[in-house]
Amino acid sequence: MRKILAAGNWKMNNTPSQAAAMINELKEKTKGCKNDVLICPTFVCLPDAIKAAEGSNIKIGAQNMHFEDKGAFTGEVSAAMLKELGVEYVIIGHSERREYFAETDDTVNAKIIQALKYDLIPVVCCGESLKQREDGITFDFIRSQIKIAFRGISKEDAVKIVVAYEPIWAIGTGKVATTEQAQEVCAAIRACIGEIYDEATAAAIRIQYGGSVNAGNAAELFTQADIDGGLVGGASLKADFGKIVNYK
Ligand code: PGA
Repeated sequence: MRKILAAGNWKMNNTPSQAAAMINELKEKTKGCKNDVLICPTFVCLPDAIKAAEGSNIKIGAQNMHFEDKGAFTGEVSAAMLKELGVEYVIIGHSERREYFAETDDTVNAKIIQALKYDLIPVVCCGESLKQREDGITFDFIRSQIKIAFRGISKEDAVKIVVAYEPIWAIGTGKVATTEQAQEVCAAIRACIGEIYDEATAAAIRIQYGGSVNAGNAAELFTQADIDGGLVGGASLKADFGKIVNYK
């Protein structure tokens, strides 16, 4: 049985003290929550966020990492650094990273392999642009993103990965995908994983939806057959995130 993962991607928001205050507030709201809860603040907020989340069921994740162990990569952060802090998850290949920081399917694949090597759970993002949806190539495009993302990853490792389907046109736009659109792409991602591995692997992997999730639409989205929670941007910065986490 797959457990729902309600994740907040804070993007470039909150200072360390603001992060700690927000997590302390969320802690109260997640007491007894049966879903997995994840918050991904910026790198500099991670130590305070981890400290604030202690003794709660809130997990802390990073928003990115480098695929090499160490070296001359100014401004980058390694998996070992995250691991030592107590980080458990890492978002990989968010569309903003692909668009503004030139990340490719190949670097996404390298980062997933590196995260798994350090026992970090990758939350791997995929999703089509509006143009790709209008051109009718959504499924082809996402299948290709998934196939490259999972390249060279064993079945045993694959089941640890979380996939986040985030149509680019729905991110930060207030334009949420319909439940049918979200469900059919998440089902297609699961089918693709079934082709790469097998049925059991496909059935075990968690697939989230992301893109304008809010307290009003979370319950409907998260109860779809192939949607196992959400990656939430804007709404994770509001008190409402407590409602998303306890969506039922
Ligand atoms: P949004 O962002 O919820 O603000 O649309 C989602 C994301 O980018 O992960």
